[in-house]
Amino acid sequence: MPHTWSPTSWKHKPAKQQVEYDDPAELEASLQVLRRLPPIVTSWEVEKLKRQLAEVERGERFLLQGGDCSERFADCQSHLIDAKLKVLLMMSAVLTYGGGKRVARVGRIAGQYAKPRSSPVETRDGVTLPSYRGDLVNRIDFTAEARRPDPARLVEAYSRSSITLNFIRSLLSGGFGDIHHPEVWDLSFVEHAPKNDDYVRLIEGMKASVRFLDATVGRPMSELAAVDFFTSHEGLHLEYETAVSEHPPLRDGWYDLGTHFPWIGDRTRAIDGAHVEFFRGIKNPIGMKVGPSMQVDELVDLVRVLDPDNEPGRLTLIVRMGADKVDKHLPPLIEAIRRADRRVIWCSDPMHGNTYSTANGTKTRHFDAILRELEQSFEVHRACGSFLGGVHFEMTGQDVTEVVGGARGLTEDDLCRAYDSDVDPRLNYEQALEMAFLISHRLRDVRG
Ligand code: PEP
Ligand code: CO
Repeated sequence: MPHTWSPTSWKHKPAKQQVEYDDPAELEASLQVLRRLPPIVTSWEVEKLKRQLAEVERGERFLLQGGDCSERFADCQSHLIDAKLKVLLMMSAVLTYGGGKRVARVGRIAGQYAKPRSSPVETRDGVTLPSYRGDLVNRIDFTAEARRPDPARLVEAYSRSSITLNFIRSLLSGGFGDIHHPEVWDLSFVEHAPKNDDYVRLIEGMKASVRFLDATVGRPMSELAAVDFFTSHEGLHLEYETAVSEHPPLRDGWYDLGTHFPWIGDRTRAIDGAHVEFFRGIKNPIGMKVGPSMQVDELVDLVRVLDPDNEPGRLTLIVRMGADKVDKHLPPLIEAIRRADRRVIWCSDPMHGNTYSTANGTKTRHFDAILRELEQSFEVHRACGSFLGGVHFEMTGQDVTEVVGGARGLTEDDLCRAYDSDVDPRLNYEQALEMAFLISHRLRDVRG
C-alpha cells in the first residue's frame, strides 16, 4: 500500500460494523478520556507475546487461545474470572504434558466486548431497534434506551478490562500455585468419557511428573516460574482501538495497548477496508479470521499487507471453516502461503463454522463437529507438510449447557438448563478440558 499509515488513516477507508453515535461531542469526550488513561498492557508485554508466537511459528510452542464469545460487564466478577483462567491453565497443562510442548496462553478476555452483527437492526413484533453490538456499545434489553449506542460504555469497557486483567495478574502472581497439580482438579466427568482409560493414563502421568519435579527441585513447581498469560479481543470498534493505541517512548511505532493480541474478524477483513488499514500499522502480533469465503489470492495479498516484513510471530491466521469444509478449503490456502514464502501461524477456530440452530431456535454447536474440525485441521496440515500451531475456543469456566455432546452427552434438551450466552454457545468447563485431552497427543506430531 503506497500511502502512509497513521493511527487514523483507516478513516479514509470504508469501515464495516462501525457504530453511529447520535452525539459526536459525547463520543469525542469518551475518546478523550481513553486517550489519557494509562494503557491496559505494555509494549514490552506485547513484544514478549510476539517472541512466544515466533516460537509457535517455528513449531517450538503451541498457541492456546480461548474465552467467551463476548464478555459482559456484569460478568466482571472474581469467581467467573477465576474459573475461566483456571480452565485455560488446566488445558495448557494438559497440552504441555500430553503434547510435550510449551504453550502460549491467550485469553479472549479483558476487552472482548464488541460483536459484529449480521444486521444493524433487529425487529421484534413490528418494533425495529438497533442490534445489540456487545457491551462496549449498548445493552441487550430490547428497548430503545438500552439499544442506543452510549459512548460512556467505551470508558466502562476499558475500566472493566483493566479490573479483569488486574485480578488475573494477582491470581497469577501467587494464588494459583496448585494449578499444575491435577489432584486438585475436578475431573468427575472423566468416568463418563468414552476414552476414559486414555484420560486416566494421562492424568496419572501428569501427577507423577509434577511429583517428580517438585521432589527433584525441592520446591513446588508453582514457585519455579511465572505463568505468562496474555489477552486478546476482536479489534472491531476502530475509534476505541485508536484511542487506546500509543507510540511508546523508545519504541519504533504504534501499539494497540488495549490488549496484547487484537484480531480482525471474518466480516471485517476486506483488503481495502478500514480494519486492515488500522491493523497493518500497529506493532502488536495480530490475528485474522479466515472463513470459507476466503480466496487464495486474496489471502496472500492480505498476508503481504498485514505482515510486510514477514516477521515471525506477527500474524496468526485463525481458520474457521466448519468441519465439512476444512479438507477442501484449507489445502490450497496452505499451498499458496508456502509458495509465497510467508511465515504465518496457522491456528484453528473450530467453533464459528459449526454453529447451528435447534428446532426451537437455540444456537448451539456439537462437540463432535468441533473435534472433527480440529482433527481434520491437524490432518490437512500434516498431509501438506505444514503444521497446526494453535487452537482457538469459545469456552467458559462455568457449568453451562450451550454446546451439545462431550463426555456427559449433553443433548438439545439440556440446552435450556444452563444456557447463559447472549451470543455464541461456549464449551463448558468439562467440555473445554476434555477437548484439551483429546487433542494433546496431536501436538507430538507437530514439528519443533
Ligand atoms: C468471534 O470470534 O466471535 C467471531 C465473530 O468470529 P468470526 O469473525 O470468525 O465470525
Ligand atoms: Co463467537
